[in-house]
Amino acid sequence: MMTAKPVHFYNDLSLTLKEIQRILQDGAINRHAAAHHPIVATLDQDGCPTQRVMILRECNWPLAHLRFHTDLRSNKIAEINANNSASVLVYDEPAKSQIRLSGKLNLGTQSVTEEAWTASTEFARRCYMTECAPGSDAAAPKSGLPEWIEGKKPNTEQLISARQNFATLIFEFDRIDWLYLANIGHRRAKFMNDLKHDSWKGSWVIP
Ligand SMILES: Cc1cc2nc3c(=O)[nH]c(=O)nc-3n(C[C@H](O)[C@H](O)[C@H](O)COP(=O)(O)O)c2cc1C
Repeated sequence: MMTAKPVHFYNDLSLTLKEIQRILQDGAINRHAAAHHPIVATLDQDGCPTQRVMILRECNWPLAHLRFHTDLRSNKIAEINANNSASVLVYDEPAKSQIRLSGKLNLGTQSVTEEAWTASTEFARRCYMTECAPGSDAAAPKSGLPEWIEGKKPNTEQLISARQNFATLIFEFDRIDWLYLANIGHRRAKFMNDLKHDSWKGSWVIP
């Protein structure tokens, strides 16, 4: 007989939404959380789904925004310029929750990008110093960084030209599909956000 006590949000849609909020907000600040490195899916230029792991930098829950950082020269930028529909996936094993978010990915504004650049460390900024675009063919195995900076921390002056390669991506989500795994019975719910009214409407779904 299953006697485990259900978690507090088990049969409650508004508490479930708060649990989703908790997982995403924690993911943005806790590098050990599963939601710190979600999978971000877009459509490539042939219309095929493509995915990559990205670090979650910020979750603005009231605006239903997630912020990511990337290289402006990377393939995903051309992809979202052609079609900015995107999906973000988190599986938080300790929380037994799968969260699937659907929405649109857009480049962050200049001020958001400048603020994010200023807040990042020199080591983080070094990623944007590669001489060729990420995804370029390489004749030999290499990091793409100039040799003189391999294994070293660049100074502010050395990072000046890297700034133009740095971009922020803002993922604005308006649909959530949530699945919670439990021996006593799984739970699944969907939430839709009418962005004009800033309100989530939830309903239960058979897992
Ligand atoms: C743990 C981890 C974290 C990553 N974080 C980022 C990130 O924050 N931003 C990013 O653009 N790529 C990140 N990547 C690399 C991407 O997964 C991907 O390889 C790269 O962005 C190129 O993707 P694209 O060709 O689809 O543009 C990360 C990879 C791993 C394994």
